[in-house]
Amino acid sequence: MPQFKSEMTIPYKNSEKGKKGQIIDMFNNIAGKYDFLNHALSLNIDKIWRNKAIKALKLLNPKTILDIATGTGDFAILSAKKLQPEHVTGIDISEKMLECGIEKIQKLNLQSTITLEVGDSEAMKFDDNSFDAITVGFGVRNFENLEQGLSEMVRVLKPNGIAAILEFSMPEHFPIKQLYTFYFKHILPFIGKIFSKDYDAYYYLFNSVQEFPYGQKFAEIAKSAGFQDVTIQKLTFGIASLYICKKS
Ligand SMILES: C[S@@+](CC[C@H](N)C(=O)[O-])C[C@H]1O[C@@H](n2cnc3c(N)ncnc32)[C@H](O)[C@@H]1O
Repeated sequence: MPQFKSEMTIPYKNSEKGKKGQIIDMFNNIAGKYDFLNHALSLNIDKIWRNKAIKALKLLNPKTILDIATGTGDFAILSAKKLQPEHVTGIDISEKMLECGIEKIQKLNLQSTITLEVGDSEAMKFDDNSFDAITVGFGVRNFENLEQGLSEMVRVLKPNGIAAILEFSMPEHFPIKQLYTFYFKHILPFIGKIFSKDYDAYYYLFNSVQEFPYGQKFAEIAKSAGFQDVTIQKLTFGIASLYICKKS
């Protein structure tokens, strides 16, 4: 299996907790400002990316969907609206992110279609072959053990099921690469600190994106975790990538 030490990229260098504990702290810290900052800092492009992922699942017509690392539930809400499934389950390790998501779902009156609950994607409580489709938006980069999280996805997907995984990647060409690095390294942590008071969280975003295996490397890891087929779609000059991972 290709080795990627996801547990090495952590937000708080002085914390004694492991990566998972730090990720819980970080998202609990920024939960209240997450939606605002997420859409503002990505200039709302994140919404276009989630829509692309949902489109890729349309043909499958999934009835049961699992949104992993659901956070404040944006992907789960979009699935419920656009794919008309019987049920969407969202799991996350940050209770505060989930609280924000549950509030949004109640306002939209979608609580009979979407359930959000605390759950670790690296050790899920669901039976084998439970879901038609999985969505993951900007979650896999934060896993303590990427391979374990991907193997768990394969386990809980039904045969022929699909996982649509969105994640940041590094653009490779001038001048987008240079602009993107400058924005991520210098501007984003600064704005993030002003609004969320957590500079480390937004500096971690830059580090974790830089170190994350994107493109073909990610596809190889997903295949060795058990996916039969992985297609890669670069989004917006390669700032993000959509991985469509199929279980046999
Ligand atoms: C950047 S947010 C993405 C939220 C949402 N999916 C979106 O598209 O906006 C990443 C989320 O991953 C969650 N997360 C990280 N590791 C996780 C794990 N092992 N199990 C479940 N959730 C996890 C974090 O708590 C956080 O809410």
